[in-house]
Amino acid sequence: MIKVAPSILSADFGKMADAVQNVKIWGADWVHCDVMDGVYVPNITFGMPMVKALRKYTDLPLDVHLMITKPERYVGQFCDAGADLVTFHPEASEDVRGALNEIKAKGVKCGLVVNADQPFSVAEPYLGEIDLLLIMTVQAGFGGQSFKADCLEKVRRGAELKAANGWTYDIEIDGGVSPSNIADCKAAGATVVVAGSSVFKAADPTAAVKAMQI
Ligand code: DX5
Ligand code: ZN
Repeated sequence: MIKVAPSILSADFGKMADAVQNVKIWGADWVHCDVMDGVYVPNITFGMPMVKALRKYTDLPLDVHLMITKPERYVGQFCDAGADLVTFHPEASEDVRGALNEIKAKGVKCGLVVNADQPFSVAEPYLGEIDLLLIMTVQAGFGGQSFKADCLEKVRRGAELKAANGWTYDIEIDGGVSPSNIADCKAAGATVVVAGSSVFKAADPTAAVKAMQI
């Protein structure tokens, strides 16, 4: 069954503790935390103190998506703050393998993100070393954008290589995911989906989560 990771980017930033508690009440699987630095992406969200604060309010896995330049500077601190999974964009890093190894050494799951404007090849050399492959179906930076179905080709490639090599990484899709495209996400090979607006802005978030756990 597909796991659903609501993105707190779409929550009320004044009520973040309530947001992570609601994610559990709604029956979702992970809490997706979008960290943006205003450099790798134009937007700025929050950093390690927010992850550390939210850790106290949920026992669900905290899935931390770093949209930051030189993530190797901060991955260890996000692990110490309580992240269960840390992903970053390889083209933003000068030491991809070093950052992956640092996350693993902290006992945290590591992953790489393929942004919508990036080729699959940015992640390919590291596929045997990761726990999570995140494929973006929007350009990273903002919630509420529409789903780019052409990016599913990269999900299929990730699923093919996973099967061919006996790898076990989760494949997560992020950007514009909703009950209307969840079947396409699953068919392409996704095992986890991020859902910001389609959960937090839903009239019935519990129903929205359930509709994507297919
Ligand atoms: C975009 C973020 C996404 C975003 C998803 O840069 O990485 O996680 O919050 O939001 P929706 O589901 O609204 O596209
Ligand atoms: Zn994200």
